[in-house]
Amino acid sequence: MRRKLAAGNWKMNGTSASLAEVEALNTAHPTAGVDILICPPATLLSRLSGVAGPAIATGGQDCHAAAAGAHTGDISADMLLDAGASHVILGHSERRADHGETDGTVHVKTVAALNAGLVPVVCVGETEVERDDGKTLQVIGTQLAGSLPDFAGIDRLVVAYEPVWAIGTGRVPTLGQIAEVHDFIRATLAERFGAAAEGMRLLYGGSVKPSNAAEIFAVSNVDGALVGGASLKASDFSGIIAALEQAA
Ligand code: PGA
Repeated sequence: MRRKLAAGNWKMNGTSASLAEVEALNTAHPTAGVDILICPPATLLSRLSGVAGPAIATGGQDCHAAAAGAHTGDISADMLLDAGASHVILGHSERRADHGETDGTVHVKTVAALNAGLVPVVCVGETEVERDDGKTLQVIGTQLAGSLPDFAGIDRLVVAYEPVWAIGTGRVPTLGQIAEVHDFIRATLAERFGAAAEGMRLLYGGSVKPSNAAEIFAVSNVDGALVGGASLKASDFSGIIAALEQAA
């Protein structure tokens, strides 16, 4: 059985005051029947890792492919680990759009993260135009092929399906559309990685809220969620965690 995962992506949000949200989560979830992950901005990672209770893991939102060196503004996988992280989000559509990250970029970063011992959360997802053109599965197949490396121990890697048009918009695919993509991702991973694919968790991301979480978590091959806006407030994220515990 794959353990469910509720992952929060704070994006470029949060200052010292936001640590209170983590303290509230600690109180609400001293233990949890699912894995809980918070990926704050890098400026908060070390302090948040210190504050997070035993049920809450922390992660970065990106890492560089190199271990160290002349890369101003970048952060290596080892640095994330040193700051208390166990996970790292890679290839988020906002990184792909804002920083021109390609599947090749995501591939080398994923290798770096795995080598450092981090759990990569690799994001894939189609734009609205690609969906309207009937290219969703083709796009996701290409992203998976290019972004994921062949790596012993790949089963700890997490894939997040995030339709670009559903991120931060309040629009969510139908449950049938989510099922179609998640089943496709599982089959694609199985074809490439064999038995290891059974251990890889598949998250849905894009406008997940406490009010729609339960129905999404009931969809086949959905092992949790990657949550942006609704992860910023402990009360909202807690509702999503509770829905995932119900589904576990
Ligand atoms: P959202 O973001 O929950 O605010 O739609 C999801 C994400 O981008 O990870």
